[in-house]
Amino acid sequence: MTGGAVGRVVQSRNKRYREGDFVHGVLGWQEWVVSDGRGLHKVDPKLGPISTALGVLGMPGLTAYFGLFEVGEIKAGETVFITGAAGAVGSIAGQLARIAGCRVTGSAGSAEKIRWMRGELGFDAAFDYKTTLDYRAALSEACPRGVDCFFDNTGGPQSDAAILSLAHRGRVVICGQIAHYNAEKLETGPRLLFNLIIRRARIEGFLVLDYADRFAQALARMAEWVKDGRLKYRETVVDGIENAPAAFIGMMRGENIGKQLVRIAPE
Ligand SMILES: NC(=O)c1ccc[n+]([C@@H]2O[C@H](COP(=O)([O-])OP(=O)(O)OC[C@H]3O[C@@H](n4cnc5c(N)ncnc54)[C@H](OP(=O)(O)O)[C@@H]3O)[C@@H](O)[C@H]2O)c1
Repeated sequence: MTGGAVGRVVQSRNKRYREGDFVHGVLGWQEWVVSDGRGLHKVDPKLGPISTALGVLGMPGLTAYFGLFEVGEIKAGETVFITGAAGAVGSIAGQLARIAGCRVTGSAGSAEKIRWMRGELGFDAAFDYKTTLDYRAALSEACPRGVDCFFDNTGGPQSDAAILSLAHRGRVVICGQIAHYNAEKLETGPRLLFNLIIRRARIEGFLVLDYADRFAQALARMAEWVKDGRLKYRETVVDGIENAPAAFIGMMRGENIGKQLVRIAPE
Protein backbone atom coordinates (compact mmCIF):
# COMPACT_ATOMS: atom_id res chain seq x y z
CA MET A 1 0.00 0.00 0.00
CA THR A 2 1.51 3.31 -1.03
CA GLY A 3 1.78 6.18 1.45
CA GLY A 4 3.99 8.97 2.68
CA ALA A 5 6.14 8.18 5.69
CA VAL A 6 8.97 9.51 7.80
CA GLY A 7 11.64 7.05 8.84
CA ARG A 8 15.09 6.82 10.37
CA VAL A 9 18.05 5.47 8.42
CA VAL A 10 19.43 2.41 10.22
CA GLN A 11 22.15 1.55 7.74
CA SER A 12 23.45 3.30 4.62
CA ARG A 13 25.88 2.80 1.78
CA ASN A 14 24.62 5.99 0.12
CA LYS A 15 26.86 9.04 0.66
CA ARG A 16 23.87 11.38 0.97
CA TYR A 17 22.39 9.58 3.99
CA ARG A 18 23.95 8.65 7.29
CA GLU A 19 22.75 6.32 9.98
CA GLY A 20 20.33 8.23 12.21
CA ASP A 21 19.18 10.66 9.51
CA PHE A 22 15.44 11.19 9.28
CA VAL A 23 14.00 10.93 5.78
CA HIS A 24 10.65 11.43 4.15
CA GLY A 25 9.34 9.70 1.06
CA VAL A 26 6.56 7.60 -0.37
CA LEU A 27 7.82 4.64 1.62
CA GLY A 28 4.59 2.66 1.84
CA TRP A 29 2.75 0.96 4.68
CA GLN A 30 5.66 -1.04 6.06
CA GLU A 31 8.06 -0.94 8.97
CA TRP A 32 11.32 -1.39 7.06
CA VAL A 33 12.28 -0.13 3.62
CA VAL A 34 15.24 -0.77 1.32
CA SER A 35 15.84 2.30 -0.84
CA ASP A 36 18.37 3.41 -3.43
CA GLY A 37 17.83 6.96 -2.17
CA ARG A 38 15.69 8.13 -5.07
CA GLY A 39 12.61 10.09 -3.98
CA LEU A 40 13.89 10.49 -0.41
CA HIS A 41 14.25 13.87 1.26
CA LYS A 42 16.03 14.61 4.51
CA VAL A 43 13.82 15.82 7.34
CA ASP A 44 15.32 18.56 9.49
CA PRO A 45 14.27 17.75 13.09
CA LYS A 46 15.12 21.35 14.05
CA LEU A 47 12.11 22.60 12.05
CA GLY A 48 9.68 20.73 14.32
CA PRO A 49 8.76 17.23 15.51
CA ILE A 50 9.48 14.77 12.67
CA SER A 51 5.77 13.95 12.37
CA THR A 52 5.18 17.49 11.05
CA ALA A 53 6.99 16.47 7.85
CA LEU A 54 3.81 14.53 7.07
CA GLY A 55 1.43 17.33 8.00
CA VAL A 56 1.81 21.04 8.53
CA LEU A 57 5.43 21.07 7.29
CA GLY A 58 4.85 18.44 4.60
CA MET A 59 2.61 17.66 1.68
CA PRO A 60 -0.71 18.74 3.30
CA GLY A 61 0.72 22.09 4.48
CA LEU A 62 2.24 22.74 1.06
CA THR A 63 -1.06 21.87 -0.60
CA ALA A 64 -2.81 24.51 1.49
CA TYR A 65 -0.05 27.05 0.81
CA PHE A 66 0.14 26.75 -2.98
CA GLY A 67 -3.57 26.13 -3.42
CA LEU A 68 -4.46 29.35 -1.63
CA PHE A 69 -1.66 31.69 -2.62
CA GLU A 70 -0.99 30.51 -6.18
CA VAL A 71 -4.23 28.99 -7.48
CA GLY A 72 -6.62 30.96 -5.27
CA GLU A 73 -4.59 34.20 -5.55
CA ILE A 74 -5.99 35.38 -2.21
CA LYS A 75 -5.53 38.99 -1.14
CA ALA A 76 -5.98 40.76 2.20
CA GLY A 77 -9.58 41.74 2.86
CA GLU A 78 -11.06 38.93 0.77
CA THR A 79 -13.49 36.27 1.96
CA VAL A 80 -12.38 32.63 1.84
CA PHE A 81 -14.54 29.53 2.33
CA ILE A 82 -12.95 26.12 2.96
CA THR A 83 -14.66 22.72 3.03
CA GLY A 84 -13.03 19.87 4.98
CA ALA A 85 -11.66 22.66 7.14
CA ALA A 86 -10.69 20.60 10.20
CA GLY A 87 -8.55 18.17 8.20
CA ALA A 88 -4.84 18.12 7.44
CA VAL A 89 -5.03 20.48 4.45
CA GLY A 90 -8.12 22.48 5.41
CA SER A 91 -7.03 23.39 8.95
CA ILE A 92 -3.77 24.83 7.58
CA ALA A 93 -5.51 26.56 4.66
CA GLY A 94 -7.84 28.38 7.05
CA GLN A 95 -4.97 29.69 9.16
CA LEU A 96 -2.89 30.72 6.13
CA ALA A 97 -5.85 32.70 4.82
CA ARG A 98 -6.11 34.43 8.23
CA ILE A 99 -2.36 35.19 8.16
CA ALA A 100 -2.90 36.72 4.70
CA GLY A 101 -5.57 39.03 6.18
CA CYS A 102 -8.65 37.30 4.78
CA ARG A 103 -11.99 36.65 6.44
CA VAL A 104 -12.29 32.86 6.76
CA THR A 105 -15.27 30.53 6.99
CA GLY A 106 -14.92 26.76 7.13
CA SER A 107 -17.13 23.71 7.31
CA ALA A 108 -16.50 20.32 8.91
CA GLY A 109 -18.42 17.35 10.26
CA SER A 110 -18.62 17.62 14.06
CA ALA A 111 -19.25 20.09 16.87
CA GLU A 112 -15.78 19.41 18.30
CA LYS A 113 -14.18 20.29 14.95
CA ILE A 114 -16.19 23.51 14.69
CA ARG A 115 -15.19 24.52 18.23
CA TRP A 116 -11.50 23.96 17.41
CA MET A 117 -11.72 25.98 14.19
CA ARG A 118 -13.58 28.90 15.80
CA GLY A 119 -11.47 28.81 18.95
CA GLU A 120 -7.83 27.86 18.59
CA LEU A 121 -7.55 28.29 14.81
CA GLY A 122 -9.27 31.69 14.67
CA PHE A 123 -11.77 31.05 11.87
CA ASP A 124 -14.21 33.97 11.64
CA ALA A 125 -17.15 31.61 11.10
CA ALA A 126 -17.73 27.87 10.77
CA PHE A 127 -20.61 25.45 10.37
CA ASP A 128 -21.17 21.72 10.80
CA TYR A 129 -22.25 20.46 7.37
CA LYS A 130 -23.83 17.37 8.94
CA THR A 131 -26.32 19.38 11.03
CA THR A 132 -26.75 22.48 8.85
CA LEU A 133 -29.83 22.17 6.67
CA ASP A 134 -29.31 25.06 4.26
CA TYR A 135 -25.68 25.59 3.15
CA ARG A 136 -26.53 28.63 1.04
CA ALA A 137 -28.19 30.35 3.98
CA ALA A 138 -25.21 29.48 6.20
CA LEU A 139 -22.83 30.93 3.62
CA SER A 140 -24.80 34.09 3.06
CA GLU A 141 -24.80 34.71 6.82
CA ALA A 142 -21.08 33.91 7.21
CA CYS A 143 -19.94 35.60 3.98
CA PRO A 144 -22.36 38.50 3.39
CA ARG A 145 -20.21 39.96 0.58
CA GLY A 146 -19.91 36.63 -1.18
CA VAL A 147 -17.00 34.18 -1.42
CA ASP A 148 -13.89 35.48 -3.21
CA CYS A 149 -11.99 32.22 -2.91
CA PHE A 150 -13.64 28.84 -2.41
CA PHE A 151 -11.03 26.21 -1.43
CA ASP A 152 -12.79 22.90 -2.01
CA ASN A 153 -11.59 19.72 -0.33
CA THR A 154 -14.84 17.80 -0.61
CA GLY A 155 -17.15 18.47 -3.56
CA GLY A 156 -20.76 17.42 -3.05
CA PRO A 157 -23.71 19.59 -2.00
CA GLN A 158 -21.52 22.10 -0.14
CA SER A 159 -19.70 22.86 -3.38
CA ASP A 160 -22.98 23.58 -5.13
CA ALA A 161 -23.84 26.11 -2.43
CA ALA A 162 -20.39 27.69 -2.53
CA ILE A 163 -20.42 28.08 -6.32
CA LEU A 164 -23.75 29.86 -6.03
CA SER A 165 -22.25 32.11 -3.31
CA LEU A 166 -19.26 33.35 -5.31
CA ALA A 167 -18.43 37.04 -5.39
CA HIS A 168 -17.51 38.97 -8.55
CA ARG A 169 -14.28 37.48 -10.02
CA GLY A 170 -14.40 34.64 -7.46
CA ARG A 171 -11.98 31.72 -7.71
CA VAL A 172 -12.77 28.06 -7.01
CA VAL A 173 -9.72 26.01 -6.06
CA ILE A 174 -10.35 22.30 -6.58
CA CYS A 175 -8.04 20.65 -4.06
CA GLY A 176 -10.00 17.47 -3.28
CA GLN A 177 -13.37 15.82 -3.89
CA ILE A 178 -13.57 13.37 -0.99
CA ALA A 179 -17.38 13.29 -1.10
CA HIS A 180 -17.04 11.53 -4.46
CA TYR A 181 -14.10 9.16 -3.86
CA ASN A 182 -16.31 6.20 -2.99
CA ALA A 183 -19.08 7.03 -5.46
CA GLU A 184 -20.20 4.01 -7.43
CA LYS A 185 -21.81 6.18 -10.08
CA LEU A 186 -20.50 9.55 -11.24
CA GLU A 187 -22.88 12.46 -10.92
CA THR A 188 -23.90 14.20 -14.10
CA GLY A 189 -22.15 17.48 -14.37
CA PRO A 190 -20.56 19.98 -14.37
CA ARG A 191 -23.50 21.83 -12.89
CA LEU A 192 -24.33 25.35 -11.74
CA LEU A 193 -21.58 26.77 -13.92
CA PHE A 194 -23.91 29.50 -15.14
CA ASN A 195 -22.91 31.33 -11.97
CA LEU A 196 -19.32 31.42 -13.21
CA ILE A 197 -20.59 33.48 -16.15
CA ILE A 198 -22.55 35.88 -13.99
CA ARG A 199 -19.70 36.26 -11.49
CA ARG A 200 -16.88 36.18 -14.10
CA ALA A 201 -15.44 33.46 -11.88
CA ARG A 202 -12.79 30.84 -12.47
CA ILE A 203 -12.46 27.19 -11.40
CA GLU A 204 -9.09 25.42 -11.34
CA GLY A 205 -7.74 22.11 -10.11
CA PHE A 206 -4.12 21.61 -9.07
CA LEU A 207 -1.67 19.06 -7.70
CA VAL A 208 0.78 20.12 -5.02
CA LEU A 209 3.63 18.40 -6.90
CA ASP A 210 3.35 21.09 -9.58
CA TYR A 211 5.14 23.41 -7.14
CA ALA A 212 7.96 21.06 -6.05
CA ASP A 213 10.70 23.49 -7.08
CA ARG A 214 9.38 25.98 -4.50
CA PHE A 215 8.72 23.61 -1.58
CA ALA A 216 11.85 24.59 0.38
CA GLN A 217 11.01 28.30 0.25
CA ALA A 218 7.39 27.68 1.34
CA LEU A 219 8.43 25.32 4.15
CA ALA A 220 10.89 27.87 5.54
CA ARG A 221 8.07 30.45 5.75
CA MET A 222 5.63 28.02 7.31
CA ALA A 223 8.19 26.75 9.82
CA GLU A 224 8.58 30.35 11.04
CA TRP A 225 4.80 30.65 11.47
CA VAL A 226 4.70 27.36 13.39
CA LYS A 227 7.55 28.56 15.62
CA ASP A 228 5.97 31.92 16.39
CA GLY A 229 2.63 30.24 17.15
CA ARG A 230 0.67 31.77 14.28
CA LEU A 231 0.22 28.40 12.58
CA LYS A 232 -1.19 25.68 14.82
CA TYR A 233 -1.61 22.05 13.97
CA ARG A 234 -3.16 18.94 15.36
CA GLU A 235 -2.47 15.28 14.72
CA THR A 236 -4.65 12.22 15.27
CA VAL A 237 -2.22 9.40 16.02
CA VAL A 238 -2.97 5.68 15.94
CA ASP A 239 -0.32 3.23 17.15
CA GLY A 240 0.80 0.12 15.28
CA ILE A 241 0.96 -0.68 11.59
CA GLU A 242 -1.74 -3.29 12.09
CA ASN A 243 -4.11 -0.39 12.79
CA ALA A 244 -3.29 1.49 9.55
CA PRO A 245 -6.29 0.17 7.58
CA ALA A 246 -8.71 1.17 10.36
CA ALA A 247 -7.05 4.60 10.60
CA PHE A 248 -7.39 5.09 6.86
CA ILE A 249 -11.08 4.14 6.88
CA GLY A 250 -11.59 6.36 9.95
CA MET A 251 -10.06 9.29 8.06
CA MET A 252 -12.47 8.75 5.18
CA ARG A 253 -15.30 8.84 7.74
CA GLY A 254 -14.07 12.00 9.45
CA GLU A 255 -12.74 10.46 12.66
CA ASN A 256 -9.50 12.49 12.41
CA ILE A 257 -8.89 16.06 13.52
CA GLY A 258 -5.94 17.56 11.66
CA LYS A 259 -3.53 15.06 10.12
CA GLN A 260 -4.20 11.33 10.53
CA LEU A 261 -0.95 9.53 11.35
CA VAL A 262 0.05 5.96 12.15
CA ARG A 263 3.00 5.65 14.53
CA ILE A 264 5.01 2.48 13.94
CA ALA A 265 7.97 3.19 16.21
CA PRO A 266 8.81 5.63 19.00
CA GLU A 267 10.34 8.89 17.74
N1 LIG B 1 -4.61 18.60 -4.88
C1 LIG B 1 -3.63 18.09 -4.15
O1 LIG B 1 -2.46 18.15 -4.50
C2 LIG B 1 -3.99 17.43 -2.85
C3 LIG B 1 -3.01 17.11 -1.91
C4 LIG B 1 -3.40 16.55 -0.67
C5 LIG B 1 -4.74 16.27 -0.43
N2 LIG B 1 -5.66 16.58 -1.41
C6 LIG B 1 -7.10 16.35 -1.15
O2 LIG B 1 -7.48 17.29 -0.17
C7 LIG B 1 -8.55 16.77 0.61
C8 LIG B 1 -8.18 16.83 2.09
O3 LIG B 1 -7.11 15.93 2.31
P1 LIG B 1 -6.54 15.74 3.79
O4 LIG B 1 -5.37 14.86 3.68
O5 LIG B 1 -6.43 17.07 4.43
O6 LIG B 1 -7.71 14.89 4.46
P2 LIG B 1 -8.45 15.27 5.82
O7 LIG B 1 -9.26 16.50 5.54
O8 LIG B 1 -7.48 15.28 6.93
O9 LIG B 1 -9.42 14.01 6.02
C9 LIG B 1 -10.51 13.82 5.21
C10 LIG B 1 -11.76 14.52 5.81
O10 LIG B 1 -12.77 14.59 4.81
C11 LIG B 1 -14.01 14.77 5.45
N3 LIG B 1 -15.04 14.05 4.68
C12 LIG B 1 -15.17 12.72 4.46
N4 LIG B 1 -16.25 12.45 3.69
C13 LIG B 1 -16.82 13.66 3.42
C14 LIG B 1 -17.97 14.07 2.68
N5 LIG B 1 -18.76 13.18 2.05
N6 LIG B 1 -18.28 15.38 2.61
C15 LIG B 1 -17.49 16.30 3.24
N7 LIG B 1 -16.38 15.99 3.95
C16 LIG B 1 -16.05 14.69 4.04
C17 LIG B 1 -13.86 14.16 6.87
O11 LIG B 1 -14.05 15.21 7.83
P3 LIG B 1 -15.52 15.69 8.31
O12 LIG B 1 -15.68 15.27 9.72
O13 LIG B 1 -15.43 17.18 8.17
O14 LIG B 1 -16.53 15.05 7.40
C18 LIG B 1 -12.39 13.74 6.93
O15 LIG B 1 -11.78 14.02 8.16
C19 LIG B 1 -8.80 15.34 0.12
O16 LIG B 1 -9.88 15.37 -0.78
C20 LIG B 1 -7.50 15.00 -0.59
O17 LIG B 1 -7.70 14.05 -1.60
C21 LIG B 1 -5.32 17.15 -2.58
